[in-house]
Amino acid sequence: MANLSTAEWLERDARYLAPTYHRCFDIVAERAEGTYLYDVEGIQYLDFTMGIAVNNVGHCHPSVVKEAKEQVEKLIHCSAVTRHTKNIKLAEKISQIAPQGLDCVFLNNSGGEAVDAAIKMARFVTGRPNIIAFTGGFHGRTLLATALTTAKSHYRQGYEPLPSGIYHAPYPYCLRCPAGQIPGKCNLECFDTFEAMFTHQLKPDTVGAILIEPMMGEGGYVVPATGYKVENGFMQRLRKLCDTHGIMLIFDEVQSGFGRTGKWFASEHFAVVPDLMIVAKGIASGFPMAAVVSRKELMDKWTMGRHGSTYGGNPVACAAALASIDVIEKENLLENARKMGDYFMAKLNEYKSKYSFVKEVRGLGLMIGMEVADESGAPDGVLIEKLVDECFKRKLLLLDCGIKNHIIRFIPPLNVSKAEIDKALSIIDEALPVAAARRQSDQAKRPADEKKPGEDASVVQPIA
Ligand SMILES: Cc1ncc(COP(=O)(O)O)c(C=O)c1O
Repeated sequence: MANLSTAEWLERDARYLAPTYHRCFDIVAERAEGTYLYDVEGIQYLDFTMGIAVNNVGHCHPSVVKEAKEQVEKLIHCSAVTRHTKNIKLAEKISQIAPQGLDCVFLNNSGGEAVDAAIKMARFVTGRPNIIAFTGGFHGRTLLATALTTAKSHYRQGYEPLPSGIYHAPYPYCLRCPAGQIPGKCNLECFDTFEAMFTHQLKPDTVGAILIEPMMGEGGYVVPATGYKVENGFMQRLRKLCDTHGIMLIFDEVQSGFGRTGKWFASEHFAVVPDLMIVAKGIASGFPMAAVVSRKELMDKWTMGRHGSTYGGNPVACAAALASIDVIEKENLLENARKMGDYFMAKLNEYKSKYSFVKEVRGLGLMIGMEVADESGAPDGVLIEKLVDECFKRKLLLLDCGIKNHIIRFIPPLNVSKAEIDKALSIIDEALPVAAARRQSDQAKRPADEKKPGEDASVVQPIA
């Protein structure tokens, strides 16, 4: 068949692929290498999305490709019929890099699946039915993960009744403080708000687990309250509360794990060790792979045969995961993520003094968010839509996030160079004023009564 154009591929895509699977850009990818992606027409894009925080060592890293290829020729799949060496090696390796004491691993294929597994385990081991998750969190698309997810009502709508026994507490999101406080000047009133759940909604001894993203992903790239420098921050208090009441603390590190934040896992920034950690995405550079990691003594209580997976921990994905971890170690990528993240964030912060709509630049390592708002402080997703579009026209790929898609998330690979960051910045420099002008001209065209006063107030708190 002759080479098809993008338009022709899009037509076939629209005809045969279920439209529910939304794609961010009308690019038909052909190949990718490092920080660059190429489409079927040979157009090159600077990719600061990394397949939504998956290709942490860059696209098609040669070591990952080599190990996966070698494994394909030896053994692709044996499932639970036999044992194999690769998942044993991988579980050992994960135990070495995981927060202290988390030394036993259950492997499966995707983040959502691992979230389900973690909740099943917590309920089974504690014998308690209830789970607390956080507003704005994203945990995946399975029915249980959907019930835990509140990043947008859109993810839940139409799927009711959702699994029960799930409660939501406000995420400690300083810029839009759920307790109406000023960041840095508060007494962590958000934690009091959280604890009030036990007075009004459920008894702590009915709670099997509290599930939280130690840095929120899809919901807005939010670093939890008081940041990682304060010893008695939200996460530390959460740990103490779980210890007091015998509740399992589960960290969903699907997006923040495997070096994304400049440490192996985001929990290290707070020096808090969860009872269960869920990882996926960056673990295997794009091969389907996820894991629930816990202490051996807890895993032993989740008795044989109570959970399983046909493909989980398959030899090829394990080989790719081992190679990816090796690359992060050998190429010093945690350090590079910290250095490049600091550099990138400092540069992005300069936009705050230049543009009043840039409200906050925040992040850890190379998990960076930039939040914008309109004059009233309401999240301005329209501006971000235009910014993403202007960057796309200039061949830079960026993703949004947040309840109103009003935050840009920057997710370059951990081995991104300063030159690549500078290239992205020069595109953003050019795109930002154009996007802002387009936003303004759209607003001028909008009938005055179309935007009702306070139309966003019900979904997000005013900026502190
Ligand atoms: C924090 C978090 N948890 C879970 C998931 C679900 O992962 P998957 O899409 O692999 O099922 C995601 C996906 O974006 C995520 O960001």
